[in-house]
Amino acid sequence: MSEPIDLDALPNDFLWGTATSAYQIEGAVAEDGRSPSIWDTFSHTPGKVDNDDHGDEACDHYHRWREDIALMKRLGTDAYRLSVAWPRIVPGGDGPVNARGLDFYDKLIDALLDEGITPSVTLYHWDLPQVLQDRGGWPERATAEHFAAYSAVVAERLGDRVQHWTTLNEPLCSAWIGHLEGRMAPGLTDLTAAVRASYHLLLGHGLATQAIRAAVPGAQVGIVNNLAHVEAASDRPEDIAAARRMDGHSNRWWLDPVHGRGFPADMLEVYGVELPERAGDLETMAQPLDWLGLNYYFPSTIADDATGPAPRARMVPRPGVHRTGMDWEVDAAGMEALLLRLTNEYGARKIYVTENGSAYPDVVRPDGTVDDPERTAYLEQHLAAVANAVRKGAPVAGYFAWSLLDNFEWAYGYDKRFGLVHVDYRTQTRTIKGSGHRYAGIIGDHRGRARRAA
Ligand code: IFM
Repeated sequence: MSEPIDLDALPNDFLWGTATSAYQIEGAVAEDGRSPSIWDTFSHTPGKVDNDDHGDEACDHYHRWREDIALMKRLGTDAYRLSVAWPRIVPGGDGPVNARGLDFYDKLIDALLDEGITPSVTLYHWDLPQVLQDRGGWPERATAEHFAAYSAVVAERLGDRVQHWTTLNEPLCSAWIGHLEGRMAPGLTDLTAAVRASYHLLLGHGLATQAIRAAVPGAQVGIVNNLAHVEAASDRPEDIAAARRMDGHSNRWWLDPVHGRGFPADMLEVYGVELPERAGDLETMAQPLDWLGLNYYFPSTIADDATGPAPRARMVPRPGVHRTGMDWEVDAAGMEALLLRLTNEYGARKIYVTENGSAYPDVVRPDGTVDDPERTAYLEQHLAAVANAVRKGAPVAGYFAWSLLDNFEWAYGYDKRFGLVHVDYRTQTRTIKGSGHRYAGIIGDHRGRARRAA
């Protein structure tokens, strides 16, 4: 049973959006001068992705973007969070700019604005040009510098129309899952590489923030983190210490440097890896931010894992808690707590929920509809949590449902469906699911209240 959503708590100009990312939906991987990214390489390496799925065609959004914007309109959303594919813009990683790559996003932005949909542009959602990986990737400082140069190119081209900018999406996944756990591209299991990657991602964030601001006066720049609401599995001192380490690994390592607090000392000790630090880097990482993005999916109950890899902590399942098709626990209280933590501990002045959603094995029924009551309940519960957090003082200015479309769910391939819109990958037919209709209803309800209150 979902609790009612206190829509009156939300500001009248609350942004209602959906989110996607380039590699997960675009397809057209070899078109108009795009070069391969680390995800092309990873997904084409046998055994790395379920069913050996890859993003070659994905949702074919590169050709069907008009239809997808029409879907956003039907959902009644007024914002869209997309990512730009670096390998389309600077196929060599650094150096010459590919005009055809920029043209694609240029016309996409124009079409969104024509429909009254505010674009929110993410510059890095994990698709590093493979050529840069071949030169060492994020563990190398030059990658951060190339990222800033690419960001400047995009900002200069789109900045006359785009105000909302995200530097990085979930750098935790790039660094820890990509370089330490090996479950995402580039697929390394090397703590030193992972720590160096995390450092250069945050440096790249700072440099890109400066580049965007130089190109776009008045730009609203933020960073998007997938934070964990961590609780210890028991009151054993070992579990409490493990929960603290996991908090450092998932949250403080990413939030503290961008807030001018440097890297957490306890985690430097846990990793035992020397940072590739140069004078001035910490100041660069700590550019003032206009907003913080929170991606939230599930809570984290943590126990000690004394012999495991850093941070020597493991997630333990809680019995009796509902789980999604990803086997992730459903618990919206974690999101409310994180929104309040960003507000109270990090002084956030504006927060967007930049992703939130759930995967379930949807089917199109014979009558052509998709009924997904579990996703609808998840949506309602998490929107109720957002409204509760706002009542308690969190400055949440918008919510982006993950995702507009079913799409390529990284190492899980296409079987995990997060969309408010179902995609039949054989025919590329789109069908708005029950949850999408419910989202449209909630948005309409909030708008009606906002109009009456105005
Ligand atoms: O699909 C991903 C997205 O790319 C990043 N955040 C989490 C989503 C669901 O796993």
